[in-house]
Amino acid sequence: MTPRTVARATAPAIPREIPATMRAAAIDRFGGPEVLSIHTLPVPEPNAKEVLIALDTAGVGTWDAGQRSGEWAEGKEDFPLVLGIDGAGTVVAVGKGVKHVAVGDYVYSYSYSNPKGGFYAEYVAVAAGKVAPVPDALDETHAGALPALGLTALQGVDDALELEDGESVIVHGASGNVGMLAVQFAKQRGARVLATASGPDGVDFVRRLGADEVIDGRRDDIGAAAKRFAPDGIDAVLAFVGGHELTGCLDVLRRGGRAAYPNGVEPKPRKRRGLRIKAYDAEAGRREFERLGRAIESAHLEIPIAEVFTLENAAKAHERLDRGHVLGRMVLRIR
Ligand SMILES: NC(=O)c1ccc[n+]([C@@H]2O[C@H](COP(=O)([O-])OP(=O)(O)OC[C@H]3O[C@@H](n4cnc5c(N)ncnc54)[C@H](OP(=O)(O)O)[C@@H]3O)[C@@H](O)[C@H]2O)c1
Repeated sequence: MTPRTVARATAPAIPREIPATMRAAAIDRFGGPEVLSIHTLPVPEPNAKEVLIALDTAGVGTWDAGQRSGEWAEGKEDFPLVLGIDGAGTVVAVGKGVKHVAVGDYVYSYSYSNPKGGFYAEYVAVAAGKVAPVPDALDETHAGALPALGLTALQGVDDALELEDGESVIVHGASGNVGMLAVQFAKQRGARVLATASGPDGVDFVRRLGADEVIDGRRDDIGAAAKRFAPDGIDAVLAFVGGHELTGCLDVLRRGGRAAYPNGVEPKPRKRRGLRIKAYDAEAGRREFERLGRAIESAHLEIPIAEVFTLENAAKAHERLDRGHVLGRMVLRIR
């Protein structure tokens, strides 16, 4: 388990001049972890609305494996394709039209399918609106680990569910990357959290993060647990895994209850009369990052890190990802 907050120890060492080329972990075709290897690629050039970040760290998540294998292919991928959707580092160049971000700022960013390439690289060029200053509480590793997960978890709790003080909520798949943060944000909002996790170690992991009650969602009886937890019915469900156990969570919602899940959760739940079920995508914008920053400060958020790999070992990180049951986020250390 990581400490709750860790101050950045050193100023990141960035080259004085931006080189023409960089190291990046990229794929030339879809496939297993072995297709991911170190490439030498041109450093992307930011346009007027973009910033160039010299990355220290990048997050590794389930969707990266989907992009690598081709399962989530959109049909417009250019090879070599640099993976990675979020990370943290120092701004080294800004486009002419960028006002709120300056060279030297220490930032984190989330950009899914980033048009100028992903975050498994020494440099990434990203729309300035998808970049924000890293809150003081986070070191480089936790800053790189957080953006996609933090935005998805917080927007699930606050925007998709509009969870309120005193409500009961099931966080389904709480031992996963987004779920482990959603549990903490839901508690921060004053909700009572019944969490489902995977396996005994997953149950212990989520209990330590502050859920009121945790069951093994693969083995335990969700109906019985929910009845004990909220005899008049559960107010809300936030789901990070689909399938028949999610159906079981919806069965225990009270009439007029609501459920939300980020797109990507499969199989999707079916519509039901009397329930509001909402799918959402995490947004990365200035307002969203400001809210995340405030939530981090007031929640004393814990961001468990499963393992840190070097950029060169990105394929090993993907082997670990493919084995599944990762408790905490994996991070690539780039610089
Ligand atoms: N649209 C968006 O903006 C967006 C953004 C982020 C994420 N997402 C989606 O959100 C989903 C969650 O992402 P994630 O990174 O949190 O994935 P994850 O880390 O794989 O989390 C899923 C968790 O659910 C657990 N689980 C599986 N079956 C379960 C069951 N029956 N009961 C209880 N727990 C169970 C898994 O355990 P095991 O590991 O042991 O299987 C894992 O801990 C994914 O579908 C992702 O694509 C969408």
